[in-house]
Formats: sequence, structure tokens, C-alpha cells
Amino acid sequence: MTRFSKAGYVLATAGSAIGLGAIWKFPYMTGQNGGMAFVLVFTLAFLLFGISVFIVEIFFGRTSGQNAFKTFEDLAPKNMRFLKFGGLMIFSGVLIFSFYVVVLGWLLHYLFLVIDGGLPKSLDTAQSLWTEFVSGEIFYQLLWHFVIVAICAYVLSKGVKKGIERLNLILMPLLLLIFIGLLGYSMLQDSFMQSFEFLFTPDFSKLNAKVIVEAIGQAFFSLSLGVGVILTYSNTMPKEGNFIRYAIIIALLNFVFCLMAGLVVFTFIFGYGAEPSSGPGLVFISLPLIFSHMGTAGEIIALLFFIALIFAGITSAVSMLEPFNAYLMEHFYWSRKKTNLFSVGIAYILGVIALLSESLTFFDKNLFGWFDYITSSFMLPLAGVFMCIYMGWVLKKDKVYAMSGGYLKGIYFQTWYFIIRFIAPIGIIVAMINLI
Ligand code: TRP
Repeated sequence: MTRFSKAGYVLATAGSAIGLGAIWKFPYMTGQNGGMAFVLVFTLAFLLFGISVFIVEIFFGRTSGQNAFKTFEDLAPKNMRFLKFGGLMIFSGVLIFSFYVVVLGWLLHYLFLVIDGGLPKSLDTAQSLWTEFVSGEIFYQLLWHFVIVAICAYVLSKGVKKGIERLNLILMPLLLLIFIGLLGYSMLQDSFMQSFEFLFTPDFSKLNAKVIVEAIGQAFFSLSLGVGVILTYSNTMPKEGNFIRYAIIIALLNFVFCLMAGLVVFTFIFGYGAEPSSGPGLVFISLPLIFSHMGTAGEIIALLFFIALIFAGITSAVSMLEPFNAYLMEHFYWSRKKTNLFSVGIAYILGVIALLSESLTFFDKNLFGWFDYITSSFMLPLAGVFMCIYMGWVLKKDKVYAMSGGYLKGIYFQTWYFIIRFIAPIGIIVAMINLI
């Protein structure tokens, strides 16, 4: 088994975590859930539950050196073999992939729009461009979706690790730089303060069970937790190296991306008098406006931005399938090629079905809406609860301590242990019960 190099491991996990979750999903979820209330719960959930479960996944993967399914099977005490079915969480990765690549396809469409010089200049054109695209141009959506899936299949067939390491090394810093630039530019706009207030001025009137559950889900989504991605990447992590520190740095970097994306997007949403709660299209309406507002330089920045974001998304997308792939390869002895064809194939078909039925809604959401909602808000956090209970209650404390390899000690270990035993599982379950 080939192990990750230290840099390779950090880049692969960061590549998985940083993607559309921070830049597309976080702003629109914040907009739909009333701003500050969502940001507040998200922040707490991210720092308390997110980072803790991130560490749980690392411990599991690092200790077992196995795929997610086998990990839960191997570590379960004799009378608790049923725990292995926790491994089923790997399927949610396929479901998430199926809608994630559709969004990447939309981004690709916008990339070509930039190249064509077709960035909208006013709010009206930006809005109609978006609605006409998602509701009318099914051919292009299917085409871009196919192209993205094909790229993902290619990256996967190369063996995820090497291809991804190299890409991330250039593109992640580029994305960060562009965002810092965009943030600076936003700060010069009059509507920046409005954006800032929307995100950070206390307003607890918007706080309710739905906001809480969705904010917790967003924290899991953004950190790639609850599918076994971090677990799978950690099963070949380097033996040495302060991986707790890496986890925290990656998480904080991701957090910074979320906040920057929120601040930038809402500055322009308010600046143009648009609606913060316009859903998945929010970023597709605001970003083009930002770039066209910047004039000629905006076109170049837009080009770099969409390219970097699409690649950041691809490194996330391929990671979602890895737990399922690792299971198929190790359990059925399938070749990588066969495995990829199978997993990418299922996700592709699901994506096409959802695209073709895009205009059909049941209870306010279309199929994508449901895939997204059920996976992020329920499946991922519940998988997190499962892992916390497994590690906090089923395994003996000294075993868990040994799993930390000496990298989590004293008060840090105790605090983390307390969070995964009590705070995270109880917090998540109580939030979900309140929703009912
Ligand atoms: N975290 C990624 C993002 O924010 C998405 C992602 C990658 C993911 N792997 C995952 C989400 C596993 C949930 C589970 O874009």
C-alpha cells in the first residue's frame, strides 16, 4: 500500500474539504436562513462538532488502515458486529457526487460565458440568464454535466492521489489569492457594511430548528465529513506528523473561505438590490455581477476564478467517491477501472435523472434539492453521531487514547473526548428532534 507523503495528505484532505461547499453552498444557505443566525450556529457546529468529528475520522482511518466499511467491522467488539453497517454511509458520497457535479457543470457553462465575453452587466440580465439556463437549457446542462463527470472519471482513473496533489498545489493558493482580492474590492463598496451586518450583527429572531439543523449539516458538508472521506484518506496517512494540527489548519482555512465567500457575495447582492434568499442560483447571479462591475480586469479575474473553482470542486467531487471505491476494490477485488466505471456510472445516471426532472418539485424541492437536503442535513450529521458514539462509548477510553498516537494529550484529549461523547451526539440529535 502506498502511503501519502505529508504534503500529499494535507493537500488531498484540503482539496476534498475546500470546494463548492464554502463558495457556492455556504452563501446561499446563509441567505436562505436569514444571515447571522445561520452563521452563528454554523460557526459553533463547525468548531465544536466539525473539527471533533474530523479527528474521529482520522483516528478511525489511521488505526484501521482499511476502507470505511472494514474499519467499522474490524474495530467492533465481538457482540457488536452490527456496527459494521455504519459503513453504509459510504453510499451518501455517491448521492452527493451526483448533484455536486451538476453544479460544477453550471460553473463550466459560466466559464464559457466569460470566454465569450457574455458576463451580464445588470441584475436583470444576470437573473434572467440564470433562470433561462436552469429552466430552459437542458441540453447544455446535460452536456456540461457529462464533461465534468468525464473529467472526474479521468482523475479517478489516474489514481486520485498523485493527480490531485499536483493540481491543488497551484490552484488552492490561486483561489485563496483571488478571494483575498475580491474581499478587498468588496470592502471598497458601499454595500460592504450591509453584508457585514447581515452576517454578523446579532439577530436571534431568525433562530429556529430548521436553521440549526441546516447549519450543522453545512458544517459537515464543508468539512467532507460523514461519508468516510477523511477516514479513507487517513488510512494511508504518513505515520509521523502532527495530523491534529493539519486537521485544524485545514478546517480553519475552509472556514475562512466560507466567511470570505459570504462577505463578497452579499456585498454585491445588496449592492445591486438582489434577494439574499434566492437559493442555489445566488452565487451564479452575484459572481458575474461582481466581475462585470470590475471592468476589463474583471474578465481576467473571472476566468481564473472559474477555472480555480472548478478544479477545487473536482478535487472535492472525486474524494466523495473514494470511500465507496475503496470498498469495492478491497471487498470484491475489482480493478480500479471497473470500480470507477461502476461508481461514476451510478452517480452519472442519478445526475441525469435529476437533471431531466429538474422542473418537477415535490414539497418545494426537486430531486436535487432532496438529494442535497437529505444528505447534508441528515445523513452526514447522523453518520457523525454514529462515529462519535462508536468511538466515545463502544471503544474503551485507553484504546481511543492509543489511537491518538500521542498527538492529542491532556486537557485537549479530555475536551475532545467530552465533545464526542456528549456534546456532539446530544446536540445533533436534539436539533433534529426539534425539527419534527
Ligand atoms: N467538502 C466539500 C466542499 O465543501 C464537498 C465534499 C467533498 C463532501 N467530500 C465530501 C461533502 C464528503 C460531504 C461528504 O465542497
